[in-house]
Amino acid sequence: MTKLTVRVDDRLATISPMIYGHFAEHLGRCIYEGFWVGEDSPIPNTRGIRTDTVAAMRKLGAPVVRWPGGCFADDYHWRDGIGPRDERPRRLNVWWHDTESNRFGTHEFLDLCRQIGTEPYICLNVGSGTPEEAAAWVEYANCARNTSRAAERAANGSPEPFAVRYWGVGNENWGCGGRFAPDDYAREYRRFACYLRSRSSSPIELIACGHTGPEWNRKFLETLGDPHMIDHLSIHRYYNCGHAVDFSDTEYYNLFPRALQVEDDITEAATAIALYNRTPRKIGVIVDEWGVWHPEARGDSGLYQRNTLRDALACAAVFDAFNRHADVVTMANIAQTINVLQCVAQTAEEKMWLTPTYHAFALYKPHMGSTSLRLDLDDVPTVEAHKADGTPVQLPVLSASASLDEARNSVCITVQNLHLTEPCDVAIRLRGGKVAKASAKVLTAKDVRDCNGPDSPNKVRPKRFQVDARATTLRATVPPHALVSVRIRL
Ligand code: AHR
Repeated sequence: MTKLTVRVDDRLATISPMIYGHFAEHLGRCIYEGFWVGEDSPIPNTRGIRTDTVAAMRKLGAPVVRWPGGCFADDYHWRDGIGPRDERPRRLNVWWHDTESNRFGTHEFLDLCRQIGTEPYICLNVGSGTPEEAAAWVEYANCARNTSRAAERAANGSPEPFAVRYWGVGNENWGCGGRFAPDDYAREYRRFACYLRSRSSSPIELIACGHTGPEWNRKFLETLGDPHMIDHLSIHRYYNCGHAVDFSDTEYYNLFPRALQVEDDITEAATAIALYNRTPRKIGVIVDEWGVWHPEARGDSGLYQRNTLRDALACAAVFDAFNRHADVVTMANIAQTINVLQCVAQTAEEKMWLTPTYHAFALYKPHMGSTSLRLDLDDVPTVEAHKADGTPVQLPVLSASASLDEARNSVCITVQNLHLTEPCDVAIRLRGGKVAKASAKVLTAKDVRDCNGPDSPNKVRPKRFQVDARATTLRATVPPHALVSVRIRL
């Protein structure tokens, strides 16, 4: 019997709700079709934005959406996307083999965010833009004073400032965002950051582009010098193993160490920050692009890929890593909302269906804003798996998170059994808490390769699950390749 001890009396940190965030780029069918269909579309919409995908994101309580890229951001000029839609210029979308109509711009994005009830996070153009262009965008969006740019925003339909809080200073500036060396990016970042805060009438938070591996982050922070210029450092992590759907059992297991590489990335970024930030001021780590990127998602086909139950389980394993590092991770944005990579929903014209990954988000929702609890796992069976570089690892088949919602006096425990064929008997003990009532849901399917589609939208979806609760202990038999979410009233 595997033992899981949840230490209700041993609290790590508040889990930022932003950890369960999203990313939407002008890429493939994410923005156009996924969200924007236009006011004249037969697909039900509100001011051009389709209602079904908005409703799905809203139900999820999506806390933040990052936009407009991605690589697209460092070639995007925001003025192209404001004013009368029919007069907006057509541009090349050089990264994603496409043209950009600019029908979806700043106002449409902020309308989308309001419809979803989510925070906007805008990524500025450093690669091909200027500090002045970036500062002007902040002023246009956020300035409450009587400037020409604020007046232009009002004339375009928004007299009130949008109060956008999160601004990224470029994207992957070590790659598609200008191919900078870390010290050059630090100097450029300083120039940009210097002019941004003063243009906003509301507080803003600046996100610098970091990288995985030790060199970039340390060199960047060392050259930057002043820790007050940065609020968060962002990193990206993508992974895959085998085909999206027709993967072998070995490839199934090997995906998990690759996904969990993000934990080392977070630790590395946090260590770099701690080395250079000698002030008590917190600089967070943001993972603003992450997820499974299968080989079938190619640039010329809009990075569309099928999403199986395996992807949802890998997503949950990464959520567990984020929750374990709730003290340093301030936001994370899975790539990318609708129709692109590890999205939460997919569409085919008027049809929309939720991916298994959507359901993983839904089962982890109670962790948002709750307090991450430390836990102990004992007697967990392991299976052999391999990291991306071929190093063998013993992969524990059980992964878990626990959090306390003090206001509701409730605990949420998410447990997943990664084993492909064996159920896992788990004894969960609450240390420092007593169960008054417990209910649970399970996400699983006949085959871990199962996915939802236009004609089978509910093949993989959560169902009620039986847990046996007594005083301080719960017992559950977690089926193979399954994720269980337990809500406990104390
Ligand atoms: O999400 C797809 C792309 O992956 C993004 O545009 C880029 O930032 C990353 O390399």
